[in-house]
Amino acid sequence: MKIGIPKEIKNNENRVGMTPAGVFELIKNNHTVYVQKDAGFGSGFFDQDYKDVGATILETIEEVYTSSDMIVKVKEPIAEEYPLIKSHHVVFTYFHFASSEALTKAMLKSEAVCIAYETVEDIDGTLPLLTPMSEVAGRMAIQQGAKYLEKPIKGRGVLLGGVPGVPPGKVLVLGAGTVGIQAAKMAAGLGAHVTIMDINMKQLRYVNDVMPNHVVTEFSSEFNIRKRIKDHDLIVGGVLLKGAKAPNLITRDMLKEMRPGTVIVDVAVDQGGCVETSKPTTHEEPTYIIDDVVHYCVANMPGAVPYTSTLALTNVTLPYVLRLANQGWKKACENDKMLAKGLNVVNGKIVYQEIAEAFNWSVDAV
Ligand SMILES: NC(=O)c1ccc[n+]([C@@H]2O[C@H](COP(=O)([O-])OP(=O)(O)OC[C@H]3O[C@@H](n4cnc5c(N)ncnc54)[C@H](O)[C@@H]3O)[C@@H](O)[C@H]2O)c1
Repeated sequence: MKIGIPKEIKNNENRVGMTPAGVFELIKNNHTVYVQKDAGFGSGFFDQDYKDVGATILETIEEVYTSSDMIVKVKEPIAEEYPLIKSHHVVFTYFHFASSEALTKAMLKSEAVCIAYETVEDIDGTLPLLTPMSEVAGRMAIQQGAKYLEKPIKGRGVLLGGVPGVPPGKVLVLGAGTVGIQAAKMAAGLGAHVTIMDINMKQLRYVNDVMPNHVVTEFSSEFNIRKRIKDHDLIVGGVLLKGAKAPNLITRDMLKEMRPGTVIVDVAVDQGGCVETSKPTTHEEPTYIIDDVVHYCVANMPGAVPYTSTLALTNVTLPYVLRLANQGWKKACENDKMLAKGLNVVNGKIVYQEIAEAFNWSVDAV
């Protein structure tokens, strides 16, 4: 199969759909890979690295699309990319269709096969192509939180690890899923005192079993959250209700209960946030302050660490890319029902119930 790796053109997106190691595997399987010039540059991969493993470098994004049967990328196509996608294409990337009617209509019109990373499932119902980005964001939450706790950028002026004779800072993590566990682990590694809350006792039991003693689990309730926010320095929001907006666990009135300079990193902001005062921010302007509380609400945190994020993402996408390339999308999806869950739009039809529901449209069967 002819596989194209275009350069991401969404604002500030430096990740790339495939590393040279992935291209190596595809070429080993007798596929042809076209990589757009400088596609990997933002992630630290140079054209020569791709050439060395047998890829052909093409000058323009148009050439990549016209030469390829399958496009492997990272972000959902933006308006400039819509006309490049044609009916013979299989496009494998994050789409997040339910959040964009314009994108959905454009992909229906293209009649391409759109397989979305975010809806590919594992047998246990987890989302294997979302997990690595949650891992990156969870770990980054503490790195960012620690930075914004510094006084010159309006934080409380607390060093999370403390020093001999001075107690460590306190971190409250809401949600003990992928984001929450990685955040708790990083905070614990810095020596901070960590409280992690969830409503899922199975998750809390797991955390309790594997984390050191300075990570304390507590059932998530309004009463407990109100109690803890008064003396915690950094609050990380990592809750998720599948397919729904995140619940507002911290309401506007609670900000007044926090000490000035408290930092909130609301990782869940991409699902509306679990803090009432959260609104999405960008890497250019990551924070804003309300009632002396610093809010960090970047909706695409992994974009700031493209090297790590590209490797983490392509580690998990490559096996699926190989199957799609080796068997063709139809056979690959017939043989793997979990991969088939990634089918969102097929030849001008929506085949994923939730997308149709988001726009009150009807679903056609594949
Ligand atoms: N901002 C970013 O760049 C970025 C990157 C990756 C992920 N995310 C987002 O982070 C969020 C968390 O993702 P995840 O992969 O950790 O999800 P996950 O499903 O692994 O974990 C979510 C956890 O929240 C818990 N939860 C639900 N209701 C709760 C409540 N009332 N109180 C406490 N906990 C509650 C669930 O039981 C679950 O354990 C998602 O919204 C995801 O989209 C954002």
